[in-house]
Amino acid sequence: MTTPIFYVNGDPHLGTAYAAINADAFARWHRLLGDEVLFLTGTDEHGLKIQQSADEHGVSPQVWVDHTASRFLGAWRELDISFDDFIRTTQERHHRTVQQFLTAIYENGFIEKGFYVGLYCVACEAYYEESELLEGSRCPVHERPVTEMSEENYFFKLSAFTDRLIELYESGAIRVTPEFRANEVLGFLRQGLKDISITRTSITWGVKVPWDDNHVFYVWYDALINYLTAIEYGEDTGRFAQWWPAVHHLLGKDIIRFHAVWWPAMCLAAGIDPPSQLLVTGWLLVDGAKMSKSSSNQIDPLSVVREMSSDTLRYYLLSSTSFGADGDVSLERLRASYNADLANDLGNLVSRTVALIVQKFGGKAPLVPSLDERNVTLMEFVSNGITAWNEFHPNVAIGAAMEMVRSSNSLLEHYEPWRRPVDDPESAWCLGTIREALRLAALLLSPAIPQAAHGVIERLGLSDLGPLEWRPGGEISELSRAEPLFPRLQKEK
Ligand code: MSP
Repeated sequence: MTTPIFYVNGDPHLGTAYAAINADAFARWHRLLGDEVLFLTGTDEHGLKIQQSADEHGVSPQVWVDHTASRFLGAWRELDISFDDFIRTTQERHHRTVQQFLTAIYENGFIEKGFYVGLYCVACEAYYEESELLEGSRCPVHERPVTEMSEENYFFKLSAFTDRLIELYESGAIRVTPEFRANEVLGFLRQGLKDISITRTSITWGVKVPWDDNHVFYVWYDALINYLTAIEYGEDTGRFAQWWPAVHHLLGKDIIRFHAVWWPAMCLAAGIDPPSQLLVTGWLLVDGAKMSKSSSNQIDPLSVVREMSSDTLRYYLLSSTSFGADGDVSLERLRASYNADLANDLGNLVSRTVALIVQKFGGKAPLVPSLDERNVTLMEFVSNGITAWNEFHPNVAIGAAMEMVRSSNSLLEHYEPWRRPVDDPESAWCLGTIREALRLAALLLSPAIPQAAHGVIERLGLSDLGPLEWRPGGEISELSRAEPLFPRLQKEK
């Protein structure tokens, strides 16, 4: 599982955190299924944009990237991003991989020298065709004017791969989620591809072209190769074969062309398989506009973590927008989702269940009953949740888990154990059922809210999240009242 590597021209914001959190949830889900997972993230540290940010701050590019990369690393830790490796493109290991990979492409005859004149957006680090621009020669992503650039540089013969790429998408050999994005890619491919310029002489902040000292590679061309750096392409064939091409690249819709067209073509040109799956997210919007570093509408994810918790932010981002679609976000809605779903539904049910077990059963948790017609429908939520995670629909999976919580709450309201005598068998059945339903809901929610899921398990007196199936009997444990899982927020700010 990979995230895009993040530009270090500013601090992380909610939009960049969204990519990391989605990838993290999928990585966690697959670990939970028992799959062997290698989860990669990192920072994209070369290129004109970074050089310009360093200049603006009056420091060298290296000082600037060290500073900002550590902000991303720190933020991802606070957001519980469970990455196995963090690749920085200024690392020596990455330079080595880029040079080996591109030398393979060069030797295979797919890189040639040429002259390029084009319209460039520095914020995108990409050339645009006139026809793609907004009125006034403005970039379609940043809505800022593009600049004309001309350079002698090396070209990658992308055009040679048009038909093979079409075949790969038509046959489903490269899977794309959501599927409509594959059609978009096919539409683009069918217009035919142009060769792309992949080196620069105008800047020095980049990976040196091994066969020509005057050139550095164009930032996108070096960045994509980060995915191979961590699995030791060209250095450890066993490790490379273990992980490639079974890769799941998660990326935003703004960078689909690089991942769906360039990257597979680069892999084919170097003689390796293309990646097998692309997972494409939509954008987080603020009042209809993309949240981005270049338009000051960012929300700082760490301020949310400090006010509430990392789980709160993760829950909101994963549940409020369906995967692949754009979603408008706001702090008011985030607080509302915390209060309604986490504090009211989940947090309250856990507190009430524990309190009733303490009051009516002296803290000894009743055993989990077998499934019968009164509680078997709860398992439908589990199976819906499993399917949804497997198909990359976090909001549906979370929805299924929360339905399970709400149905359990209805059971509690129906049996009213608080009105019944101590050690009442019906209450024992009801509370045993709810304890198991809460365990399964926590399990399904754990890729999204890992800390709170463990909080639920601890409060229920269990030692771990356990299996994804109903477990009659269960552990005998002593429960005691604990701090609320999600304290209600005071006044909305
Ligand atoms: N450095 C390139 C990626 C190279 S991958 C080989 C890049 N970096 S980025 O920092 O600009 O963006 C990283 C990811 O964050 C992208 O997937 C992008 O779509 C995502 N997001 C940035 N802003 C976003 C929103 N407002 N909403 C959702 N995701 C967005 O592109």
